[in-house]
Amino acid sequence: MPYPMALILEGLRRYPPAHFVLPHRVTEDAVLNNFLVPRKGIVNFFIAELGWDPKVWEDPIAFRLERRMCPAYGLAMLHLEYFVANLVLSFEWKSVDGDDIDLSEKQELTTVMKNPLQAHIYPRNLHSKFGRIVRIGSHPAIFVSDRSLNHQALIQNGAIFADRSSALTTGGIASSNQHTINTAAYGPLWGILRRSLTSEILNPSRAKSYSPARKWVLQVLRKQLTLKVGDAILVEDILIPLIMARKKVKEDKEVKYEGEHILSYVDTLLDLQLPEEKRKLDEGEIVSLCSEFLNAGTDTTSTALHWIMSNLVKYPHIQEKLFMEIRRVVGDGEEVKEDDLQKMPYLKAVILEGLRRHPPAHFLLPHRVTEDIVLNHILVPREGTVNFFTAEVGWDPKVWDDPVVFKPERFVSSDGGEEMFDITGSTEIKMIPFGAGRGICPAYGLAMLHLEYFVANLVWFFEWRPVDGDDIDLSDTEEFTIVMKNLLQACMYPRLR
Ligand code: HEM
Repeated sequence: MPYPMALILEGLRRYPPAHFVLPHRVTEDAVLNNFLVPRKGIVNFFIAELGWDPKVWEDPIAFRLERRMCPAYGLAMLHLEYFVANLVLSFEWKSVDGDDIDLSEKQELTTVMKNPLQAHIYPRNLHSKFGRIVRIGSHPAIFVSDRSLNHQALIQNGAIFADRSSALTTGGIASSNQHTINTAAYGPLWGILRRSLTSEILNPSRAKSYSPARKWVLQVLRKQLTLKVGDAILVEDILIPLIMARKKVKEDKEVKYEGEHILSYVDTLLDLQLPEEKRKLDEGEIVSLCSEFLNAGTDTTSTALHWIMSNLVKYPHIQEKLFMEIRRVVGDGEEVKEDDLQKMPYLKAVILEGLRRHPPAHFLLPHRVTEDIVLNHILVPREGTVNFFTAEVGWDPKVWDDPVVFKPERFVSSDGGEEMFDITGSTEIKMIPFGAGRGICPAYGLAMLHLEYFVANLVWFFEWRPVDGDDIDLSDTEEFTIVMKNLLQACMYPRLR
């Protein structure tokens, strides 16, 4: 590898860690350049100056300090080559926010950087066909970004790749010892918890009853939060009274709801029988499942909504096109109704483009394999953890023209209708904002409905414009999801209709 070698040499020449070698003492009188160096005289060699002298630098011999040179220089070179090559191979290193790297020095035991390097590192495997195997702890962790390998793993070998890793202590407490859908091992417990959520709550025919249920929960939560203004809030403090209230409703047949009875997620959990442990869920487990339901559903959806609205503010022509489509469907209507949404292909395209360009999660939750499997000639050993990059798949230039451009038209057919797009990636993976295969987000249908419903109504009620013609900054930062670094600031003007 001549280039890494040249890099190391150049590094050592330009920034030698020691600017002097240790003082040398001469053992007998010696004449150096017509100078007498007396016996026992101390000679200090400036090695930094040596490496920087343009006249000397031309001469390769000047770098070979004879006799007393570091005995481990070969080993040091090997270490530097090995680590630099691997660090550059595994990660792309970028300065933070385009900061210039300050290369000034200071003297410590060696000559070190005055301001230690601060950099963002991006795994190279985001760009490569298949990630390398990185050993973390006792089990290897694998990173996959290529879309066909995603398909091979998540769809074609879905059962093998569907497991989750054992929770660490804190994770184990939060998930009530892995009694939530996203943490449960792939097996009967995961099956029953996931089936209960999808059939009882996420099933499309129930979709209509969700809004009042959410409104009810929201009102109770709001009341609870108002009482606790200024105090620290624990999720359990809010959820346990709600769970108890639902229990009471279930036990006390006399208590009637005002209006129609609405099934809540808690209701579906109260009688659930765990298949292997042959018992019902305890209170802590119900809290964990409700927290999972709220956490998995709220942050992801609101992040996606935020990104989509920001793009509509940044690109007024897209917002206008969307508004015209809504007007064509809604006419003089006060609001966009859920039934109207199916008649709006451009709206759907805006949402899909938002999820492609800004998926709220850049990785799926880690998957664990249940048996040895070879993926792209690489052995993924049993219990190895596989991390799938979602964002990179949707930005692949081989699949998407101008992948960084926000262009909803890519999801519209040539006649302006809806271009059929399989968000589950069953036949082919082109983007996976919700994952794919057995662990795919069970609520992707509900999430799409919410996004379509809220975006359509927000654009129908208001025209959204940037504040004082500000450009909208779409840089991101990582929190629970990948959010906007600088929150959207926009002015809203009621639509004159
Ligand atoms: C825009 C909104 C949403 C996005 C982008 C999203 C994305 C995801 C992703 C990427 C996963 C991981 C899939 C995997 O590891 O293979 C996931 C899992 C999950 N999501 Fe969502 N999600 C959204 C909304 C929701 C909502 C509204 C709910 C609940 C009502 C929900 C509940 C879950 C659950 C329970 C899991 C775990 C599934 C399992 O492990 O089997 N998500 N979601």
